[in-house]
Order: sequence, then structure tokens, then C-alpha cells
Amino acid sequence: MNTTSIKKFIEGIPKAELHLHIEGTFEPELMFEIAKRNNKKIKYSSVEELKKAYSFNNLQEFLDIYYAGANVLIEEQDFYDLTWAYLTKVHEQNVVHVELFFDPQTHTDRGVSFDTVIKGIHRALEDGKEQLGISFKLIMSFLRHLDEASAFKTLEQALPYKKWISAVGLDSSELGNPPSKFERVFAKSREEGFITVAHAGEEGPSEYIWDALDLLKVTRIDHGNRCLDDDTLVERLVALQMPLTVCPLSNLELKVVTDLKDHPIAKMLDLGLLVTVNSDDPAYFGGYMNENYQGIAEALNLSKQQITELTKNSFKASWLSDHEKDHMIAKIDTYFHNN
Ligand code: HPA
Ligand code: ZN
Repeated sequence: MNTTSIKKFIEGIPKAELHLHIEGTFEPELMFEIAKRNNKKIKYSSVEELKKAYSFNNLQEFLDIYYAGANVLIEEQDFYDLTWAYLTKVHEQNVVHVELFFDPQTHTDRGVSFDTVIKGIHRALEDGKEQLGISFKLIMSFLRHLDEASAFKTLEQALPYKKWISAVGLDSSELGNPPSKFERVFAKSREEGFITVAHAGEEGPSEYIWDALDLLKVTRIDHGNRCLDDDTLVERLVALQMPLTVCPLSNLELKVVTDLKDHPIAKMLDLGLLVTVNSDDPAYFGGYMNENYQGIAEALNLSKQQITELTKNSFKASWLSDHEKDHMIAKIDTYFHNN
């Protein structure tokens, strides 16, 4: 066995990304380019000025900038370019499967049609599958700061595209917008055949995780960090092998943790939780998948074995078929033995 450095080990190991907002991959350079061709104004005079604004004390401060950035996306080609840029980036990082969120209401609320958004994103995903070999699933996320009626309207708009959308999710401002607000629209979504997931326990309390399980019947929790406040909940999540899509650099940038050295992911692994590593909004939080893995590997002194377990979890927690999961897990085992 040779001794690849942990950095090289992380770079080479196959990975799946399960928590990624496509609007959160909007790099400043592309934002300025698209703003220019659409004659849209950006509040900042240059890429450097914009990047300086990427400093957040909490989730809401980030969301305000994230929604402002998305304002320049107008045409189907804009959504294509955004998605294609993400795929080419993670292809270099040995990400072979992605299950990504898009936030239709961020765009439909400003007059961009649902069709424009999904057609651009989906066309890029199809091209990514064909040209880069990246398989994908799409998750339509409801904005929880908006009302139930808006979520129902969005679900209605999604129905003609059912075959392209695997799941519905719940994101945006968590505190004060509990899962119960969306119980009925999630019930209707399940009736229509969608899988359900929800952001819970990022800033919100552990009760929101209980409610995501019991009221929204989710099959995956996005973030879920706050489960550690409640031992009974941890026991339940372990027993269910309920996946948690954890996002280390996001947690650091949004002050969910004050230092990566305090990040709970190693503890979560030790407890037997099915945790995965993801980038959330990589253009805003300073790193894509490999930077997230490297951040925690360095801060928590993770072993190759722990990195291997995390990448295997990313496939176990995915919606690939059992056959595809087994194939990827065997590939990772071989990689571990050879590196
Ligand atoms: N939390 C909630 N909503 C979001 C996030 C997040 O981390 N990223 C994009 N929308
Ligand atoms: Zn998220």
C-alpha cells in the first residue's frame, strides 16, 4: 500500500454530492458576465467588491446576498450556464453523482417562468451525464419564508415535469418557519409520487428535525446538526439510518460552528449516524466538495478510513439503485486498498 497524502486521497476518491443549491454555485465572474448580457445591474462594482460582501453572521445575512445574486438569471441559457459550470467544476473533483436543489420561487416571484428555469438546468444535467458521466437527481425546494399557497402553486407548476424531479425539499430562513407550516403541501407532494427531504436543525432546534420526520415524512435530513442536542432523537436517527447531509464550510461561514475544529461530523460518525459531506452553496462558502472534505480532514485529523466511510455514506444515502450503490461502494473499497 502506498501512502498517498490525505489531500490526494480525497481528490481521487469517487464522491456523490447530496446537498447543493444550484443558485449557490453562482461564481462572481459568471454573475457579472450574465448580468452584462441581460442588462441587469449588480450592487457591487467589481468581482472583488462582490467577494468582499461574502461575510456572514448567520443564515439570513447569507440568504439576502444569495437571492440578490440570483436576480440576474433570466434566460434558459443562464440556468444552463450556471449548472454546466458547476458540473465541470465537480467533475474535476471526482464527483460522479449529484442530487441537487433548485429554488423555483426565487425566479418565478420575479417573473421568470418555471419552464425556463427547469429546462435550462435539466438540459445541462443531461449534457453532464452524457459528456462527463455524472448521474443526477433533481430536488425542487420550497422557500419556507413564503406561504403555503405559494408552495402549492409551485407544486402545481412542477407537475408537468414530474419525470425530471425526484423529490421536494424545504430551504431558506429556518427559524420561525417550522416544518408544520408545510405539512399539507408535503402530503400532496408525496401523493404525487415525490420523495421528501427538508433542511432541519441547521439554525432551528432539534424539534424541527422531529417534525420533519413525523409531519413531512422525509427520507433525508439536510444539515441536522442540532440533533446532537437530543439523545433520543440521535437514537432514532441511528436506528432509521436516516441520512444527514452535513455541510462543513457552510456551517463555518454561517456560524453554525465557530471553528472547523469544533465541527461535530467525527462525533456524528462515531455515534453511528449516516452522515455525508456536501458543499451547500460553494460559490459563497469558499469551497466545493474536495475543499469541504479537506477542511474537516485537516481540522479533525480524519483518517483515510473515516474519509472512505463518508464517501460510502454519500452513495448509501443517495437515490441510486441498489445495484448502482453496490457498484460504487465496491469501487471505493478498491480505491481504499490501493491508496
Ligand atoms: N439553508 C437554508 N436555505 C438555504 C441554504 C441553507 O444552508 N442554502 C441555500 N438556501
Ligand atoms: Zn442547504
